[in-house]
Amino acid sequence: MDDAAGTGASGPEPNGADTTSTRPEREATYYRDYLGLDEILGAIRPVSRMADGKPAHDEHLFIVTHQAFELWFAQMLHELDAVLADLDRDPVPDTAMGQVVHRLERMVVIVPTLLSQFTVLETMTPLDFLDFRDELVPASGFQSAQFRLLENRLGLTASKRLKIQGAVYTSRLDARDAATVSEAEEGRSLRAVVDDWLARTPFVRLDGFDLWAAYGDAVRTMLDRDRRLIASNPSVDEVVRDQQLASFEQTEAAFATLLDRDRWDDLRAQGKRAFSHEAIRAALLIQLYRDQPALHLPFRLLVALVDLDTGMTAFRQAHARMVRRAIGARVGTGGTSGHAYLEAATSKHTVFGDLADLATFHLPRRELPALPEHVRQEMGFRYDAGGGGVGGGGAGASTS
Ligand code: HEM
Repeated sequence: MDDAAGTGASGPEPNGADTTSTRPEREATYYRDYLGLDEILGAIRPVSRMADGKPAHDEHLFIVTHQAFELWFAQMLHELDAVLADLDRDPVPDTAMGQVVHRLERMVVIVPTLLSQFTVLETMTPLDFLDFRDELVPASGFQSAQFRLLENRLGLTASKRLKIQGAVYTSRLDARDAATVSEAEEGRSLRAVVDDWLARTPFVRLDGFDLWAAYGDAVRTMLDRDRRLIASNPSVDEVVRDQQLASFEQTEAAFATLLDRDRWDDLRAQGKRAFSHEAIRAALLIQLYRDQPALHLPFRLLVALVDLDTGMTAFRQAHARMVRRAIGARVGTGGTSGHAYLEAATSKHTVFGDLADLATFHLPRRELPALPEHVRQEMGFRYDAGGGGVGGGGAGASTS
């Protein structure tokens, strides 16, 4: 290519080095081309025709909103794929952890952007929608392959999904999308990758100190004390006391599922829990001892996962609410029961519920077993200003 554009990008350098072969010339970047605006704007193609021969006015908004969502889904997948690639390594390099958390947190803040776009679409009234709704059948957001990829890569399993008239969700996709989405079902999900990463957390056992055993002792002390308090409370009669003891047994049973691996595995086999016992207890300890410097990033990662799950739920809720306003109790263009299906999916299609439920097992800070000094040093950052180097730190889950 010659230098007609006057970029001066080729030819000998002042020091005599010829960079012709190493620095390829390119045309000046132009905004429209760089962003592919011809393709993007050309893809707003209303199909409806009103009596005057023009498309229904609001179909433009309907298309643009869906396209904007799909672009943001693409961005979320871009972040998620990078997170998966980094976190699915053994060991995960310490230097990768900051990026992993940062990218998850970015995904979390994309969600409110999506929700606000529903608000814009809600300015389309049901009557406006009816001007073109029939043209859409059988297409539906139900066929959004990117949304399904997001769900699958986060870790929503096929067995947990609602069926539609007995059919699986992929039955509404064309062959290309069905293949891509099914492949993602087989691949490593964020939930599985986080499970493995948590299960490898080294600090649960450090130099002979078994943090998990110490936690179990603290729980038993707390439960014994609470039971004695209820049993010896002079201000309640026997009936109330029995009721209180019965409720207390439920609390004990909840703790037992966590303290006893077999009970946890039972719940897991029934599909009531997703994370492995090793992983969940590591997650709990990260939450309880999050003030330790080595646990800051792992803690933020756990928060981001719950936020992300909550964000997906918020998407589903906002979407279901909007659908009710737009079509009432009608069936969807994609053939589901419409609002009723979407409501049911909202509570069922979650991935990180185990992490959110961990609050059940929190103890007040004052009742947590104190960490031995050598363990605190392992979990801290120590810098020797006298030039003796750096000690401690780095013992958190990120290095495992
Ligand atoms: C007036 C606007 C909208 C209406 C009336 C509507 C209606 C529906 C209905 C009824 C369903 C259930 C499947 C079916 O039977 O069709 C559905 C699913 C879905 N829609 Fe929408 N939708 C609207 C806007 C949007 C927008 C803007 C998006 C953004 C991408 C979207 C994404 C989805 C997704 C991802 C699903 C699958 C949800 C799941 O299976 O959990 N929808 N929609």
